[in-house]
Amino acid sequence: MGNDEADVSRRKFLKALTAATSVIGLAGLGAAALPFIRAMEPSKGILAAGRVEVDISDLKTGGFKKIIWRKTPVFILRRTAVMIKATEKTDPAALADPATPDDRAIRPDLFVGLGICTHLGCVPRFMPERVPNTDQPGFYCLCHGGLYDTLGRRLGGPPPENLHLLPYRLIDENRLELGTETFGGYTENVRTIKQLPKG
Ligand code: FES
Repeated sequence: MGNDEADVSRRKFLKALTAATSVIGLAGLGAAALPFIRAMEPSKGILAAGRVEVDISDLKTGGFKKIIWRKTPVFILRRTAVMIKATEKTDPAALADPATPDDRAIRPDLFVGLGICTHLGCVPRFMPERVPNTDQPGFYCLCHGGLYDTLGRRLGGPPPENLHLLPYRLIDENRLELGTETFGGYTENVRTIKQLPKG
């Protein structure tokens, strides 16, 4: 075999080797990428993380608790007969963000909502006796004087809207399930029960 023929054969061999390496390389890359791609799919655990079960057996009538759901404060209040009566007396049409009691609670004695003031995002304080400058209990935002009733409806001050709601269901008398797999939270801007997503 002359030098020229040897060079041609060597080039052919190197070409074939490069092509084979590329195919093996791509296949290897694909195999290596699979676990990575799978890891990017939300796991069942992450999807389930949108839902949280809350024990409210410790909430007596008039009891209030604040829990953290998806890094967001959630208010849960077992309303007394006095609280229920006070909110029934309010004319929904007179509110800046009109809503009836039925619009705001699945069960009249239980308010569940996001504890973020709709003015600039402070966490209002529960006032079991009376919210300043009103004749009823509710939530008071100390930051700039935002006033809400026990259904989180805006009564006065700078907040433009009622407290936002989140999806929840009553598992039984003493247990709630908060959230859904896809509900985003405050930015969904839900202010009536009817607007809440079911799943
Ligand atoms: S942040 Fe609540 S009144 Fe301003």
